Amino acid sequence: MQRLTDLPEWHALTQHHEQIKNIHMRDLFQKDKTRFDKFSLSAAGLFLDYSKNRINEETLSLLIHLADARHLKNKIEDLFSAKPINTTEQRAALHTALRDPGHSPIYYQDQNVSTDIQDCLQRMHDISETIRQQKWRGYKGDVITDIVNIGIGGSERGPAMTIEALAHDKTSSLNFHFISNIDGHHVTDVLKRLNPETTLFIVSSKSFSTLETLKNAKVVLDWYPEKSNRDQHFIAITLNKKSALDFGISEKNILPLWDWVGGRYSIWSAIGLPLMIAIGIDKFKEFLKGAHTMDEHFKNAPFSQNMPLLLALLGIWYCNFFKAQTHAILPYDHQLQLFPSYLKQLVMESIGKNRTHSGTLIDYETSPIVWGEAGCNGQHAFHQALHQGTHLTPTDFMTSISHHHTLDEHHQILYASCLSQTQALMEGKKPEEILHELINQGYPREQAEFLSLQQSAPGNQPSNTLIYNKLTPEILGALIALYEHKTYVQSIIWDINAFDQWGIELGKRLAKNILKDLTENSSTSNYDVSTKGLMKIFKDAHS
Ligand code: F6P
Repeated sequence: MQRLTDLPEWHALTQHHEQIKNIHMRDLFQKDKTRFDKFSLSAAGLFLDYSKNRINEETLSLLIHLADARHLKNKIEDLFSAKPINTTEQRAALHTALRDPGHSPIYYQDQNVSTDIQDCLQRMHDISETIRQQKWRGYKGDVITDIVNIGIGGSERGPAMTIEALAHDKTSSLNFHFISNIDGHHVTDVLKRLNPETTLFIVSSKSFSTLETLKNAKVVLDWYPEKSNRDQHFIAITLNKKSALDFGISEKNILPLWDWVGGRYSIWSAIGLPLMIAIGIDKFKEFLKGAHTMDEHFKNAPFSQNMPLLLALLGIWYCNFFKAQTHAILPYDHQLQLFPSYLKQLVMESIGKNRTHSGTLIDYETSPIVWGEAGCNGQHAFHQALHQGTHLTPTDFMTSISHHHTLDEHHQILYASCLSQTQALMEGKKPEEILHELINQGYPREQAEFLSLQQSAPGNQPSNTLIYNKLTPEILGALIALYEHKTYVQSIIWDINAFDQWGIELGKRLAKNILKDLTENSSTSNYDVSTKGLMKIFKDAHS
């Protein structure tokens, strides 16, 4: 594939950036009263206003030319086919097949994966209904009251985020808990609150080799010294059935995963079992349907009306041309408070890479650092730096029109606050406007001049605003799929593999060595002086 920065479309964008980079959005809005209509669209129950971006029609058209130059249309087809687009592992990435309600046949390595998907959904349904109807009993015959997901990364974030987001759709009285971290406090603190007789553990690990998960699962397994009692208390979700069996989980309690589902794309698979237990099969299917509707939109909408694609191109515009290093996710929807965290993995583990598909070292920026928090909490903490700091920070706001509670005024304030932030970030406030206001309020001129500088805000901070009626399973499905596809588009433009994560492996290997040398009386002479010094402190304390 041609080097991105050599493309004429890239050069055209570089030139265009020079022309537009100092234009203030305030002026763009003043000149064009149709900007909101021009730069907004709806898809899959989501409304996107992207008018508060540092773009004009030419910017969009140049960005779309760049997407065309990267053969994006064909690449989208590849995603939905069984092509091994995960090139380093020679695997397809078929998470979209998991949410296809028509279960259209799709063949991967001579196997119709849609048959496997349907079988798995049926098993998830059977298991979840048995639990929800209180027919699944503990080893002493008690009703199960608590479900604990043991897993990390993609095997934790999806279930944790979606269960929290869809708390209002929960139709079971079960309590849900998550054990992920190797910090012993985590497992100890969760177990403290539970009764082994009424708790069911779901060990979720695609590989069934993740150290943190296996260590935590072992602690829990030891809670049931009698092997015969374990059947009623353990389910495993994994690709590695053999290791789950060896671990002591019975075959009938093992649900499958496949190599064509990446961990961070796996909430649609059996990894979603805790969510299905919480909300039931019908709502789980609505969740899948929302994602599928977004899939169809992504596949079929023209580029100029394609929501994931437009978000991706705007991201490229800021990362590569304005050199923005971070991207903030600010849900004004408390139910989505774990969504920024979920997106950290989805985005940074997918496209935080510095080599192209062919191995060439990349000479342009890739994944921004994704961060964020629910508003208004973030507003009273770090928004200061967005309004008056020195970094350009593109932001996605999201909020709902209506709500699940009865506190209408709360919702009006929440919605108004969200809009106030996007408006303030776009417009800013000029010192002369503040000066005028302060003098009208009776401030002496000298003090007013001083304060007007301190109180001014430059604005011109870009933001997207996503709006939906209410956070439902369908909307949540669409929202997640939107960001999955946005991430995929960016991977295509940047020519990187979105479906592997080799960077994590180095740390895993080093941790094994350090652990060995920390706990055995071996020499630490091979380590750098910093690591050696830090090891010594630990060894001395434990000798
Ligand atoms: O180490 C990274 C990672 O492989 C993630 O990609 C994955 O979601 C997580 O660890 C958990 O992996 P597993 O499901 O195999 O335990």
